[in-house]
Amino acid sequence: MRFKGKSCVVTGGAGFIGGHLVDALLAEGASRVAVVDNFFLGKEETLSSAKLGYGDKLRIYRENAGDYSAVRAVINAEQPDIVFNLATKALLYSFFNPPGACKVNLDIALALGELLREETYGKLVHLSSSEVYGTAQSVPMDEYHPLLAETSYAAGKAAGDLLLASYVKMFDLDITTIRPFNNYGPRQNDGQLAAVVPLTMKRVLAGEAPVLSGDGLQTRDFIFVCDTIEAILKLAIADGLKGRVLNLGSGRETPIKTIVETLCQIMSFSGSIQYVPERKADVIRHCADVTQATSLIGEVAPTSLEEGLRQTVEWYLTKDET
Ligand SMILES: NC(=O)c1ccc[n+]([C@@H]2O[C@H](COP(=O)([O-])OP(=O)(O)OC[C@H]3O[C@@H](n4cnc5c(N)ncnc54)[C@H](O)[C@@H]3O)[C@@H](O)[C@H]2O)c1
Repeated sequence: MRFKGKSCVVTGGAGFIGGHLVDALLAEGASRVAVVDNFFLGKEETLSSAKLGYGDKLRIYRENAGDYSAVRAVINAEQPDIVFNLATKALLYSFFNPPGACKVNLDIALALGELLREETYGKLVHLSSSEVYGTAQSVPMDEYHPLLAETSYAAGKAAGDLLLASYVKMFDLDITTIRPFNNYGPRQNDGQLAAVVPLTMKRVLAGEAPVLSGDGLQTRDFIFVCDTIEAILKLAIADGLKGRVLNLGSGRETPIKTIVETLCQIMSFSGSIQYVPERKADVIRHCADVTQATSLIGEVAPTSLEEGLRQTVEWYLTKDET
């Protein structure tokens, strides 16, 4: 019961990682968890088991987390000990609305930074993204890797990180920035703006060829969402992390093609893969150096890629039955 009696706010709590975090915080004894989500991609059903299991301990605010006044009202009502910032619009949104994809990340960081400066709550755990680094200049990539954002989403994330780092320096605020690498697992969005794992499962299940852009040899560091959640919980309660920036990944570099092929194997799909032209601004290489997080909390990503993908497929194949 690591969060016994704690009141928490989770922005983006109806999303993929946010929904798992909400479940975990409630299971760990949080007295209240308030979700601030505008349901841009988030879904009510993500929160349905938490609602069923924990009733009024879960509050849902359909608000823009970048709207200072709206978030202030939530914080006044909830008096959180800790705010977890996960709200964002997915990377691919950069191609539909470049300023919007950037602005949302900076606006939210600004609103939460200001509210922390005004002492309306005690601590911010801010989720950034490995995308702020752009393509690896050296591998593995530690937290000092230059910020070379390749999309407006990533530029907005990097701006948010720098803004919050400046707030730590100017006002000595308790902010920890976590940079997850590529997450996958149950409940990841398979609709518009979907990432490779849910997209591949969806297509294979529909009997369609999975799609790879470019040669598929671009790499990512994939981490199972349950490992990410466990690490976030541990880091959130660890002492002495004010102002720290921490990578969260597996430390393993995997070509996207391997992900698609492994999913095909698990789903017994023997058809061919459809290759489409490479996506502009696609990161070519990503692999996390997780030395810092490991030294604080031990092994960060105990779930192997094969096991994580198997659990993800299992969930995907049965999700509509529950
Ligand atoms: N999924 C990954 O692989 C990955 C990798 C690195 C970093 N991250 C970071 O982790 C966090 C969670 O990612 P995710 O994969 O769960 O994303 P997601 O898109 O599933 O969830 C984001 C949630 O934020 C909500 N949202 C969007 N704009 C909002 C706004 N203005 N106000 C309130 N809510 C808003 C969406 O409706 C959605 O529910 C994000 O900050 C993301 O940048 C994710």
